[in-house]
Amino acid sequence: MALYLITGIGGFIGSSLARAILSRGEQVRGVDNFSTGKRENIADIQDRIDFREADIADLDAMHSACAGVDFVLHQAAIPSVPKSVLDPLGSNRANVDGTVNVLVAARDAKVKRVVFAASSSAYGDTPTLPKHEAMKPDPISPYAVAKLASEHYLTSFYRCYQLETVSLRYFNIFGPRQDPSSPYSGVLAKFITVMLRGEQPAIYGDGEQSRDFTYIDNAVEANLLACKAPAAQVAGQMFNVATGRRVTLNETFKLLQGLTSHTGHPKYGPERGGDIKHSLADISKAEAALGYKPKVDFEEGLRRTVDWYRGK
Ligand code: UD1
Repeated sequence: MALYLITGIGGFIGSSLARAILSRGEQVRGVDNFSTGKRENIADIQDRIDFREADIADLDAMHSACAGVDFVLHQAAIPSVPKSVLDPLGSNRANVDGTVNVLVAARDAKVKRVVFAASSSAYGDTPTLPKHEAMKPDPISPYAVAKLASEHYLTSFYRCYQLETVSLRYFNIFGPRQDPSSPYSGVLAKFITVMLRGEQPAIYGDGEQSRDFTYIDNAVEANLLACKAPAAQVAGQMFNVATGRRVTLNETFKLLQGLTSHTGHPKYGPERGGDIKHSLADISKAEAALGYKPKVDFEEGLRRTVDWYRGK
């Protein structure tokens, strides 16, 4: 029975990973400092996990968290483009320094593999679509730079210390438990909760920006595959985790009107600084090396997510 350490276990992705791993009969340890994660996300599993309230910036705490661990799923982050534009130092501390701490602790504990929550924002706003891993990255926001720098650290730890690492470039992961309440929350969590209340969602720009929105179960599956794929195929590398299809915010708003019985209009405002316009992934590398295939499509993911928020 393998032991997984999940950093950021109080987040919506971290807590979803924990549930999936427990349901496979494996063991979970988790750390979170609750800067963006929430206790309520792990309330239903707290008796089944070894939870430690700790900051990834605390190297001693990371050393003790990594002891005896097989796989580290490093999800802890301040996961916001606009927040990083306002506070680049804070973004760097959590998203780069924190990652290096986790890597040092994982290396010293001789864990089998570290899988990292990297970001599609590394590609930037270059016109080529879909984005594939061989493209030269062109990050715009401090957040995107931090996530890309962390990827390079993962590859470096594989090259210098033979610590097996895999970076998963997430494309707009969404689903139940994503926090809708902060100004930095993901757009779908905000749209769904606002529209269920019958209020107007805010669209920054003309709404024609598009994203390869990826339902959480697909990201969970990619992490578990990344732990088990042969090292020769994956170690030191990065992979897109997405669906291979993009949807605009205007199209998403219309779909959500049907699902939430909302009848109003969105309010359009100025574009947000640091944003990219379009995002779409080529997922063939992950398909070939990880055996990844998105199992839940956008519409089904939206339905499940709306149902979850409605039941809250
Ligand atoms: C998201 C993730 C980021 C991840 C990246 C790639 C969040 C909070 N951010 O960034 O961690 O690395 O995908 O996977 O999940 N928008 C509105 N109205 C709103 C909120 C947002 O119009 O109320 C717009 C934004 O201006 C942007 C788009 O929706 O054009 C998506 O924004 P957001 O959900 O914050 O995600 P990304 O910035 O793409």
